[in-house]
Amino acid sequence: MTLKGKLILLTGASGGIGQAIARRLAAQGARLILVGRSTEQLNVLARELRVLVNEGFVLQADITQHSGRETIRTALLALQEPLDALINCAGVNLFGFLEDSDPDTVAQLINTNVTATILLTQLTLPFLHKSTGRILNIGSSFGSLGYPGFSVYCASKFALRGFSEALRRELGDSNIQVAHLAPRATNTSLNSDAVCAMNRELGNAMDEPDIVAAQVEIMLSAKRMRDRNVGWPERLFLRINSIVPRIIDNALRGQLPIIRRYAQRIPDAGVATNTISTRLS
Ligand SMILES: NC(=O)c1ccc[n+]([C@@H]2O[C@H](COP(=O)([O-])OP(=O)(O)OC[C@H]3O[C@@H](n4cnc5c(N)ncnc54)[C@H](OP(=O)(O)O)[C@@H]3O)[C@@H](O)[C@H]2O)c1
Repeated sequence: MTLKGKLILLTGASGGIGQAIARRLAAQGARLILVGRSTEQLNVLARELRVLVNEGFVLQADITQHSGRETIRTALLALQEPLDALINCAGVNLFGFLEDSDPDTVAQLINTNVTATILLTQLTLPFLHKSTGRILNIGSSFGSLGYPGFSVYCASKFALRGFSEALRRELGDSNIQVAHLAPRATNTSLNSDAVCAMNRELGNAMDEPDIVAAQVEIMLSAKRMRDRNVGWPERLFLRINSIVPRIIDNALRGQLPIIRRYAQRIPDAGVATNTISTRLS
């Protein structure tokens, strides 16, 4: 699909990956509806993008709230034109062992990454049906590989991947395409200082957000969208995990003392707002 002039709704636009996606798509002439809760961040981005493309706007909406999703529906109705793509990029993270995690925080994560994302997708379907619409869900490599310290986040991203696959098949005879993109660890405020330090110690690579954004641009520009996983050797690990999970079990068992040490560390001052800290007893 040619991106020039296309109307694209992007959630998580104020975040690290969302901003990089917005810059890439605006550079191709796409008209963006930037969704997030922090308008300050979104307005700065919108001002920057206006240099690239004349149209597009900011919507302040908490997607976990009915009122937030209705704000989005009202804006789409007011536009009176088809929606060409929805990119579900909003998400939160939770690093910590399950037994230390606050139940409300667990519920909040599932609500954001799964329930709200599904309900927002449902809301946009009538607008996407009016065009050859596309739905691109930003999942994670943790949506195919369970990792200690991220059990709730993994659960949410496994769910999102399942949702993407089923919806793609459900809409198989329609004009709407659905795809799932799984980045590996990426340098944004989603990852607390503890997660970044742990990744360094374990030798886990962390991409810059534009690596993910480039994949989004490729997927949306293609005639037919296909699911993608970002990063090597992560793609190999995912493959091994799907065939012989015991090999990954054993490898991660060896990493467990290091992961536990970071998971139990008191979060550093200024810990990322989108990383929900665990209760520390
Ligand atoms: N960074 C990574 O290592 C990594 C790896 C794989 C996948 N991912 C996925 O990539 C996506 C983007 O993550 P990121 O790294 O860019 O994180 P980020 O910088 O923390 O951004 C998260 C975005 O989600 C938005 N958001 C969170 N809760 C929301 C809510 N209730 N309503 C509306 N917007 C909400 C935030 O907006 P406001 O703060 O303005 O509300 C922000 O724009 C997420 O789905 C994440 O799971 C990230």
